Amino acid sequence: MQIKFFNPGLGYSKMKDEIIVEIDRVLSAGDLVLRKDMEDFEKSLAEYVGVKYAVALNSCTDALYLALRALKIGKGDEVLVPSRTFVASAQVIVQAGATPVFYDIDGKMEYSDNIKAIIPVHIEGEFDKHFADILKLAEEKGWHIIEDSAQALGATFNGHKAGSFGTIACFSFYPAKILGAYGDAGALVTDDKDIYEWVKDCRNHFKDSNAEWGINSRMDNLQAAVLNVKFKYLDQILKIRKNIADMYTEGLRGIMGLELPPHTEGRVWQDYIVRTEQRDLLYNFLKEQGIETLKNNYPFPVPKLPQAQSYEDETLRLPCNENLTDEEILEIISKIKEFFKQ
Ligand SMILES: Cc1ncc(COP(=O)(O)O)c(C=O)c1O
Repeated sequence: MQIKFFNPGLGYSKMKDEIIVEIDRVLSAGDLVLRKDMEDFEKSLAEYVGVKYAVALNSCTDALYLALRALKIGKGDEVLVPSRTFVASAQVIVQAGATPVFYDIDGKMEYSDNIKAIIPVHIEGEFDKHFADILKLAEEKGWHIIEDSAQALGATFNGHKAGSFGTIACFSFYPAKILGAYGDAGALVTDDKDIYEWVKDCRNHFKDSNAEWGINSRMDNLQAAVLNVKFKYLDQILKIRKNIADMYTEGLRGIMGLELPPHTEGRVWQDYIVRTEQRDLLYNFLKEQGIETLKNNYPFPVPKLPQAQSYEDETLRLPCNENLTDEEILEIISKIKEFFKQ
């Protein structure tokens, strides 16, 4: 059996009837840039997250970058960010002219008075493990929180959704994300009207105010139309992903040398990641069996902190998306057991 890690073509074929109608409508009307579908998506996202405003952008990377700029963070400023994250969370700090200050998986932080913000990352669908402490610390120090929620749409903490805690939060709708477009897409959410207005103008070259230099980071209206269709199925998608995680955990529990991800309250399943010192051997074995997995490496141009590095060296992402069949998941479980001779 051949099992792909991610199969967007299959996902499309399942929703084709609904999607094709929307694509045809948008293209026939010529509604390509800054149109109603994009505005509808912004409204749906803000309502879903539980915040006042959302701005649809080209990517989560741009959303994080614009978040820093909107907060006037730049040269001479420092921003805390976990070392265990995708490169974009840290890259944007450098892009904005500020300096990233990393914390490792244990959450121990060293910081100076130059810290202006912290970017906790809700990685793999789970809130930053130190989020309760971060909330306290940020309040005490007067830091802004910018939640990197790229991987955590729908996750909750104390009953509130990811994206509803920070001054600003950022989401990704990259195709492999929980809510995936057919190309790049992202968004920034906030309760702050001034930030909202600033980002909305900045994403379109500051054409409204000519106040300063802007960028082009508009979400395509066509992508928004696709996302509006998929949004209706978000709860279903989250449920299917949770069932997959439950099946994996049930099937793989108790294997010596294989660490399974925690089923933390409120988490969502952007990824199902297992940890083993035999990661590369397991990866190769599954590949020979026709099962595509991903090594969980997110390299930086600077060294990762030690715990983040060993986590990345030892972890493997198993296929985890709403298009997998039970038969495929059982096959993956059975091959992993075969590898560990269980
Ligand atoms: C944690 C995290 N932050 C930011 C990003 C950047 O998202 P985008 O690809 O939409 O720019 C990603 C994308 O994978 C991510 O996983």
